Amino acid sequence: MLKGNFPVESFEKIKTPFYYYDMSLLRRTLDRVKQELAKSPDFVLHYAIKANANPVILSTISSAGFGADCVSGGEVRAALSNGFRPDAVVFAGVGKTDEDILFSLKAGIARFNVESVEELEVIDSLAASLNLIAPVSLRVNPDVGAHTNAKITTGLSENKFGINYEQLDSVLAKALKLKNVEYKGLHFHIGSQILDMSDFASLCNRINSLVESLRAKDLPLGDINVGGGLGVDYHHPNHLDVADFEAYFDVFRKHLTLPRGCKVHFELGRSIVAPCGSLISRVLYVKQGTSRKFAILDASMTELVRPAMYKAYHRVENLSSNESEEIYDVVGPVCESSDVFVKEASLDKCHRGDIVAVRSAGAYGEAMASCYNCRPLPKSYFSDMMP
Ligand code: LLP
Repeated sequence: MLKGNFPVESFEKIKTPFYYYDMSLLRRTLDRVKQELAKSPDFVLHYAIKANANPVILSTISSAGFGADCVSGGEVRAALSNGFRPDAVVFAGVGKTDEDILFSLKAGIARFNVESVEELEVIDSLAASLNLIAPVSLRVNPDVGAHTNAKITTGLSENKFGINYEQLDSVLAKALKLKNVEYKGLHFHIGSQILDMSDFASLCNRINSLVESLRAKDLPLGDINVGGGLGVDYHHPNHLDVADFEAYFDVFRKHLTLPRGCKVHFELGRSIVAPCGSLISRVLYVKQGTSRKFAILDASMTELVRPAMYKAYHRVENLSSNESEEIYDVVGPVCESSDVFVKEASLDKCHRGDIVAVRSAGAYGEAMASCYNCRPLPKSYFSDMMP
């Protein structure tokens, strides 16, 4: 039996919970992105590995010819061992360790996205110790507030991320003076799960005025990295299964006014991988409370922490039943009252043993899993390699 695009009979033979990835949807998504990039030869995509670092997902994305955006030495290693070329790897993060910087220098990555003057100095001295020149971009805090969850906005001025607008000139002067770094451009990122395209237009306007002021001061620009952030429709995973990449890239085509030939780098994570992943679980118990009914799953916040951590919504579907819908609080077994997937969800009538899918969980799902309560990390299965 197939319900939606799910091979439920195969699921029944597998120990739950686990992640299931629809690889044809991932490939369709990558093709859509490629079509958009083909319209703008100066646009370059680096997939943000933090969203999902599963090796099968990484090698599928690297085979599509994209680069990688990393935020730790572990991610740089994951990128390199899953087919991303070093010259297509960029490395951001406010707390890069000496070990990670040295490793990345030796590997010959494309760019360090530097988040402070202190970090710039350390990269310079570590590059000097290896007799290398580190390619650096400066991450600027554009002071653009995105319309999204406060826990996932990053572009406001006083923030652990990036260099404040007012300090940019002096940090840039320093980057130009240091002997073992080569200034290559500017990096921005305003936040995640952004669906209001006017936020990206505001970022473009901010970049345009910054570019103008650098030009007026005769300072070099290099290239521009606009970060990631495009959101997905968590409420309608069956209708809108590919994010609106055309609308997104059109904003940058329309609003960014950069010198000819200036490359624009993008670091999309969620919009590439969220839709193709689902967390598959079994109903352990259907518990009747006094005023509520609970569907207690064998999956929990340890496999998918987003609802507990950000109050994020994920649609839950019962794949085993076609009986009329009832209302449930869908919860996990972990010993935390925040271990709730969704409250008052309409699900086809649930029974013990039913298989349910927690949808749009391909981004920041498996990648954020933990072993709390001594639970094992979830396994993953792929539509084109089902047992
Ligand atoms: N570039 C930088 C510098 C970032 O900090 C991020 C995400 C991205 C790119 C990718 O953004 P995306 O296209 O995926 O929105 N765990 C949270 C999301 C944290 C995002 C952190 N930075 C969640 O589950 O919603």
